[in-house]
Amino acid sequence: MAQMFLRDLAQKRGLAIGTAVSADALRGDAQYRTILAREFNMLTCENAMKFGPLHPACGQFAFDDADAIVAFARENGMAVRGHTLVWHRMLPDWFAKGGFTYDDGIDLMRGHIHTVVSRYRGQVCAWDVVNEAFEDDGGWRGTPFLRMFGPDYLTTAFHWAHEADPDVKLFYNDYSADHVNRKSDAIYAMVRMLLDQGVPIHGVGLQMHLCVWDDLHPASVAANIKRFNDLGLDVQITEMDVRMKEPFSESDLLRQARIYREIMEVCLRAERCSAFVVWGLTDRYSWIPDVFEGEGAALLFDADGQPKQAYEALKEALWRERT
Ligand code: XIL
Repeated sequence: MAQMFLRDLAQKRGLAIGTAVSADALRGDAQYRTILAREFNMLTCENAMKFGPLHPACGQFAFDDADAIVAFARENGMAVRGHTLVWHRMLPDWFAKGGFTYDDGIDLMRGHIHTVVSRYRGQVCAWDVVNEAFEDDGGWRGTPFLRMFGPDYLTTAFHWAHEADPDVKLFYNDYSADHVNRKSDAIYAMVRMLLDQGVPIHGVGLQMHLCVWDDLHPASVAANIKRFNDLGLDVQITEMDVRMKEPFSESDLLRQARIYREIMEVCLRAERCSAFVVWGLTDRYSWIPDVFEGEGAALLFDADGQPKQAYEALKEALWRERT
């Protein structure tokens, strides 16, 4: 039998399996391109579609990196998740420190969202419209958007994205909201309210940044996905990685593989969990060592591009759940 790769198995299950793509690695590393096209049927720009990289000066857009990634996806039959339109991080100074009036701020946000969503209309299947609007205790995060516009900025952002592409699926995305907890309770209450108001929102993204020492409760993740599904919303796993302390041991890798498998199983068993995206292709390009000191090895492929136990575990889960 011909060898089955991750994307073949996922495709048979009707699941999108994706990864976050670095524009530099895509350009400079042939092995990266090979693994990406072979294993995944969805991708997202790790940074290239964020506000700062895409809109470096007021009214001036830099689409090259995002365009190159979208072109790669098209050439290789991959879907694209758009990430992200409204996020408090990676904002350019001209916007974050601009001191705009309410009206000017609204015009800028509308212009940004309309320009970006229109450009990728028909090419991006889902947008993370708003990213990380809540604190872990369930309170509103004090972002420049909250300060400038109040909590209505969510409603407005979803409407603008929908105006620019009425067919694209619109998501709210956040981390540490994977289980049923105070943060996911707050998100649940918020999306319910948006739905009641007729706001065009179609899904919730669970980022799923985990550690090997985490206490994972698959039943709680499943219950969380179910309550969003019961509202008629899709759920996607949008940024999964499972980090460990360096130097790591064999048992760390096995524990990591188990966590990936458990989340895949929860996704496959859910009524609607349509995508499973990992946050980076190989450990060489992962964001973890830059942000979490002394930690790493969070992805499916090691720094040399070799598949890890976690990769095999995902394939097993896809295979087993299918038969
Ligand atoms: C990270 C990228 O991986 C880094 O390269 C960048 O320096 C910072 O952002 N949640 C998100 C992602 O929604 O956009 C973040 O990506 C990781 C956490």
